[in-house]
Amino acid sequence: MDQETVTLKIPGLTRTYTFFHTSDAHVEIALETDAEGGKQRAEYAAEKYTNEGSNIPASTLLNAIRTADEAKADGLFLCGDIGDHYTEGTIQFIRAALKEAKTEVFYVMGNHECAGAEDKGSARQTFAEMMFGCPDFWARDLGEILIVGLDNSDKYYTEEQFAFLNEQIAKNKPILLLMHAPLMTDAIIDPVKEKWSEEMGAGACDYFLIDRPEDTSHPYRRFWDLVQNPENHIMAIFAGHVHLSNDGEFAPGKRQYTMVPTYMGEIRKVIVTGE
Ligand SMILES: [Fe+2]
Repeated sequence: MDQETVTLKIPGLTRTYTFFHTSDAHVEIALETDAEGGKQRAEYAAEKYTNEGSNIPASTLLNAIRTADEAKADGLFLCGDIGDHYTEGTIQFIRAALKEAKTEVFYVMGNHECAGAEDKGSARQTFAEMMFGCPDFWARDLGEILIVGLDNSDKYYTEEQFAFLNEQIAKNKPILLLMHAPLMTDAIIDPVKEKWSEEMGAGACDYFLIDRPEDTSHPYRRFWDLVQNPENHIMAIFAGHVHLSNDGEFAPGKRQYTMVPTYMGEIRKVIVTGE
């Protein structure tokens, strides 16, 4: 896979960490039908997708996992929309692919994960095992760094999520925050307009980005105020949704990254170092 590399300096770390960041693989897998008309399990087909490249999103997802594995990375960030629709074949495939990963996978919900599901509540629970038991929010303590995931794919922030994020902040460790929809930073507005205005019209930025309302009680504004606070150690946000690569600040010294979709065959390597 083509890689672009960013280096994030976090004073005080005793070693260097390597992560890979991707999102929006948009994998769509139909269950295979055998000669008797029975449905085969999609996971058995994983090898086929790697070798033939017949399903580009599926093969690029497997390539992303392989890239992280070969680099012996500390983690692979999957920032949502890994599946294009909620179908049995797609879920089986993603589950099998992530199970085979040697790298720890940090996965947050996108707006596509449960798209088309009849019962979104139970569809969400399918992802719990891939998201440390809780698709709404999770955290993993790597010792010196916390990786925190929040589901903002329906563009809301719940009181539970605020409470959870505050709990993580109170641990006083550097936080890398993963979510699907990015913040509406100055750096991302023009690229989003350029990419999406033709298709989405004037509402493109509002559809893709979390804006910062004047009303300080609005959940978006409360989220902005929380993550921008220089007192906490939220060092970077990794997101997806916009299908373009972007690197900008959401507060002095705090960076937000988005990435082109996995199916474009590119991935971001993230070096986190104390030096
Ligand atoms: Fe997407």
